[in-house]
Amino acid sequence: MRGNREKGKPSAVAATRQAFRYRQLAGEIEKKILEGTYQAGEKLPSIRRLHQQTNLSISTVYRAYVELENTGFVEARPKSGYYVRPVSFKKLEVPALRKNTSAPQRVNLAPVINSVIAAISNPRFVPFGNTAMDPALLPVKAFTRILKSLSRNEMRTLLSYSPSEGFPELRRQLALRTLGVLEGIEPEDIIITNGCMEAIALSLLAVTRPGDTVAIEAPTNFSFLQLLKELGLLVLEIATDPQEGVDLKELEKSLRTNTIRACLFMPNFQNPLGALMPEDKKRALVKLVTSHGVPIIEDDISSQLYFGEQHPAPLKAYDREDLILTCSSFSKTLAPGLRLGWVIPGRRLSSRIQRLKAGITISTSTLAQYVASRFLASGAYERHLRALRSALKKQLFRIAIEIQNHFPAKTRLAVPRGGSLLWVELPPGIDGLAVYQAAFERNIAIIPGAVCSNSNQFDNFIQIGCSAPFSRRIKESIGILGSITAGFLTPDPLKNRPHS
Ligand SMILES: Cc1ncc(COP(=O)(O)O)c(C=O)c1O
Repeated sequence: MRGNREKGKPSAVAATRQAFRYRQLAGEIEKKILEGTYQAGEKLPSIRRLHQQTNLSISTVYRAYVELENTGFVEARPKSGYYVRPVSFKKLEVPALRKNTSAPQRVNLAPVINSVIAAISNPRFVPFGNTAMDPALLPVKAFTRILKSLSRNEMRTLLSYSPSEGFPELRRQLALRTLGVLEGIEPEDIIITNGCMEAIALSLLAVTRPGDTVAIEAPTNFSFLQLLKELGLLVLEIATDPQEGVDLKELEKSLRTNTIRACLFMPNFQNPLGALMPEDKKRALVKLVTSHGVPIIEDDISSQLYFGEQHPAPLKAYDREDLILTCSSFSKTLAPGLRLGWVIPGRRLSSRIQRLKAGITISTSTLAQYVASRFLASGAYERHLRALRSALKKQLFRIAIEIQNHFPAKTRLAVPRGGSLLWVELPPGIDGLAVYQAAFERNIAIIPGAVCSNSNQFDNFIQIGCSAPFSRRIKESIGILGSITAGFLTPDPLKNRPHS
């Protein structure tokens, strides 16, 4: 990095430039820490050395280090210098697998669900309840440019219906994106939907009838519970490991002893756990379930948000029986408001899904599909994804560091390797709903674990979404959540009661 030396008292412009430079330098060092180039415990270059190396002023380099200290990536040791702090989260233990696989049950939504949804969508609240992208991360400029470039003639076409299975160019672009991930996917294999939730709803409608049992992960995304309830389906919760996903032994037992019509799983960066199923486990899972002739509906919405080098494979990559329905969308990667998703249902179920799509919503917004396909065709999506992954990784790591620093002992957390969610186990005896309600009163939205299961197994968990850029407000809010949690540790039994 090159920069001019700042001399004397800085003007307003120079001050802005300096602020930009110290943040840029802090960002570069932070990236090297997160990528493991600088390792935990390693001494960082002295201020003087960095000043000479970068040509930045002493005060700019100093401010960069202070910034890194504030965000928890480095620590200053008296008379010694700056050192990389461990970002291995050693103080945090991983939540244990809960072996509470259930029998089939009707869905009972936790009564607090409406309040949770209201808090998530309240713009005044600190957005830890959000699982979708923060508006600051949306590619606003590129989309505005595409919209401005539309002619009246084009607009006329775009304001009409598109084919019910989807706008051809978007299907083509999506088929191109499966290269290296899934074999042999042609545009006709992909059906465009109104978001991932419609893709999942159509898939469930294609393979179940009201009263059937669907195997789900425990915990699961609360939107799945809402949908399964509306479709009159029963749920069988399968114990799910916080790091490696659904427990195969438990699943095998359930498949043997119940009539399961479908599984609804999320193998890549599961919501709410963040779990990433190892590839050989995915292969074994597909073999196990399909050998019973049971279809798996997989939610693959977050697989693009990996922090490592490789896009994790969907279950469909291991499908030999044509029984996997892969559902996804742009809600976590491009813009949730586009309401654009898709399902790759396989040859056997394709026409059934197409009929359901045509019969239920006719088609998906032509304008949204057109804008998205132009964005994909321009090559900008890859660049956008790279920036998004790195932003999410930083945000999530920073928040996890803050949790490590500010939550009481015995808080557990598995830091995921992708996505934007942290699933936090509170110290024993602390009610996640009580923490949710106290946080609500401070205008902080979180998701209580109680809404993520059908059987009260996760009442002492909370989910913290990390989709918003890290800021002082975010940092302070994690501090507040930590104090709220610690407050419930006091021996006064009345304190741990949810407020009404
Ligand atoms: C795991 C998961 N699947 C699906 C959805 C909904 O996706 P869409 O907005 O594309 O319908 C969400 C929402 O954030 C989600 O977290």
